[in-house]
Amino acid sequence: MDVVLEGLRRLEYRGYDSAGIAVVAGESIQSRKKSGKLANLVNELAARPLPDALTGIGHTRWATHGGPTDVNAHPHLADGGKLAVIHNGIIENFAELKAALLAKGHTFTSETDTEVAAVLMGDFYRARAAKGADENTLTNAMSDACQQLEGAFTLLAIHAENPNTVVAARRNSPLVVGLGDGENFLGSDVSGFIDYTRRAVELGQDQIVTITPDNVEIIDFAGNPAAGKEYLVDWDAAAAEKDGFPSFMEKEIHDQPDAVAATLLGRSDINGRLTLDELRIDPERLKSVNKIMVLACGTSAYAGQVAKYAIERWCRIPTEVELSHEFRYRDPIVDANTLVVSISQSGETMDTLMAVRYAREQGAITLAVCNTNGSTIPRESDAVLYTHAGPEIAVASTKAFLAQITATYLLGLYLAQLRGNMFHGEIKDVLADLGKIPAKIAKILANAEQIKELARSMADAKSVLFLGRHVGFPVAMEGALKLKELAYIHAEGFAAGELKHGPIALIEEGQPVVVVVPSPRGRDSLHAKVVSNIQEIRARGANTIVIAEEGDEAVRAYAEHVFYIPESPVLLAPLLTTVPLQIFACELATSKGYDVDQPRNLAKSVTVE
Ligand code: M6R
Repeated sequence: MDVVLEGLRRLEYRGYDSAGIAVVAGESIQSRKKSGKLANLVNELAARPLPDALTGIGHTRWATHGGPTDVNAHPHLADGGKLAVIHNGIIENFAELKAALLAKGHTFTSETDTEVAAVLMGDFYRARAAKGADENTLTNAMSDACQQLEGAFTLLAIHAENPNTVVAARRNSPLVVGLGDGENFLGSDVSGFIDYTRRAVELGQDQIVTITPDNVEIIDFAGNPAAGKEYLVDWDAAAAEKDGFPSFMEKEIHDQPDAVAATLLGRSDINGRLTLDELRIDPERLKSVNKIMVLACGTSAYAGQVAKYAIERWCRIPTEVELSHEFRYRDPIVDANTLVVSISQSGETMDTLMAVRYAREQGAITLAVCNTNGSTIPRESDAVLYTHAGPEIAVASTKAFLAQITATYLLGLYLAQLRGNMFHGEIKDVLADLGKIPAKIAKILANAEQIKELARSMADAKSVLFLGRHVGFPVAMEGALKLKELAYIHAEGFAAGELKHGPIALIEEGQPVVVVVPSPRGRDSLHAKVVSNIQEIRARGANTIVIAEEGDEAVRAYAEHVFYIPESPVLLAPLLTTVPLQIFACELATSKGYDVDQPRNLAKSVTVE
C-alpha cells in the first residue's frame, strides 16, 4: 500500500479530484477511495487501514464522466467485488456497452465509463473462468474487453483469483512499465516508480502488459506476442522534488536557467554549427519545406507564437501557429512540403496528438518539440526535438515554456543553416546570445523581491490587462494566462497596437496594466510606439506596470512601477520578459492562499479532447 501511495503522491499532478487504492488481500479485493485531494485518501487509510498486500493499484482522477465524488473515484469493482479496475482516458462507446451489460443483468453504482470497462471485463472473466480459469484468464479478459472498447484508455486490473498479477492495456493514453528486482511496476509516467527502479519499458499502441513480481509479458489486443522498448530513466527522484521551495512552481521558475542551458547543450559544435542530427529527417526533405505550421495548446501555443517571429525572420518560410483543436476541424491545407511542428510539454495533450495524426495522414512532415521522453506525441511524429527542462510538476507551465522557445529557436537556426538563409557568422552570434540567457534569467530571479512585493499588494485586483508588441504580444498573453489559471483573476493579453481598436475602453481609474516594452536598441519605431501606448492608457487612469530593458529611462516617466530586465536582442527578449510575469502570478496567487501547483479545475496533462 505504501508503494502505491508514494507513487500516487508523485503522480498527483496528473489529476487530483479523487484518489483510490485497491489491493489483493487473501481471497478478496479490498479498496479505499475518496473524493478530493490525495490527503483525503491518506486520512481514510489512517482511519480504515488496508491489509498488508503484495499486489495493488492506485489512481488519482481528473473527472470526465461523472462528478468528483467518492462513488465515482477509482478503483471500480466488478465480478462480485473480485476484480478492481482503474482507468485514464475516455471510453467513447460506454453508453452502448452499458446498455448491453444492463440487459444482461449487470448493475452499476457509479456514473463513470470506467465502471463499464470493469463490468465488461468481469463479464468476460466469468465467461472464460466457466470454461476453466488459469493464470492467463485476467489477461485474456482484458484482451476481450479492449477489443470492444473505443476511445482513449489506459486500464489496469487486478483480480482476487490471480493474486500476484496486474494486467494493463493502453490505447492513446500513457503507460510505462518499471522493471525491478523481484518486483515490477506500472505508471502513467516514470515518476510513479522512480524510487524503486530506473529501468523502464515504453509500451506501444494497443498493447497489453501482464506483470508479476518476476515477469513482464506484452501482447497486442488480439493476443499476439509484442515487445516494448526498454530504456534507462535519467531523472533522479530528487529532480522531482521541490528543492526547498514552497511550491513546485516556484522551484520550476528557478530551474529556468538550467532548463534553457540544458536545451542548448550539445546542439552545436565548437564552430557554432547547429548539429541537430537527432532529428533524423532527410535534410533534402527539410530543404523542400515551403510552409511551417506550429500546433499546440495553452502556454505551448504561446511559445509557438514567439517562435513564428524568429523562424520567419531567420528562415523566410511562412509560418502559421494554430491551436491544435482548431486546426483539425477546419480542413487545413498541409501537404508533403509542410513541416508541422507540434509543441507539447507533456507529449500527451490529446488535442495536439490528434492534430499531429491528422497532419501525418495528409503527408506533412511532423516534428515534435516535447519535454517528456517516450511520450505519445513524439512517438507518433517523424522526428522529435526534446526540450531538456526536466520534469515539470506544477500545472502552470514555466520552465517548459522557456525551453520550448529555446528549442524552436534552435530549429529555426538549423533550418536557416540548412537552407542558407543566414550566414554562418550570424547563426554563431545568435547561438552566443542564447548562451548568455541563463545567466540573465538568474539575475532576474535574484532580484525577484520587487515584483513579489507588488504582486502581494495587488491581491485584491479584479482584473489585470497585459500589453505587448511583436514578440512581446505572446508574452503578454502568457502573462495573462498565468494570472488567470493561478490567481483566478480576470486577465487579458492584447497586442498594444490593438488597444485603440477596442480594448482601451476597459481602461478606467486604477486599472492595472502590465506593459512589456521592447528594447530601445531594437527597431526604434517599435519601442516608441509602445511608449506612446503607455502614455495613452496612463492618461486614462491606468496603473502602469512596465517591464523594460535596463537603461531604458524613457519609460520611467510614464510608469507607476518599472521592472528592468537585462539587455538582449529583441527576438531573445521573451526568454527574459516572461520571468517577472511568472513570478508576479505565482506570488499574487500565493498571497491569496491558493495552491499554485494545483489550481482548481485544471490538470497537468489534458489527455482528453
Ligand atoms: O503538455 P502541453 O504542453 O501539450 O500542454 C498544453 C497546455 O495544456 C498547457 O500549456 C496549459 O495551458 C498550462 N496549464 C499553462 O500553464
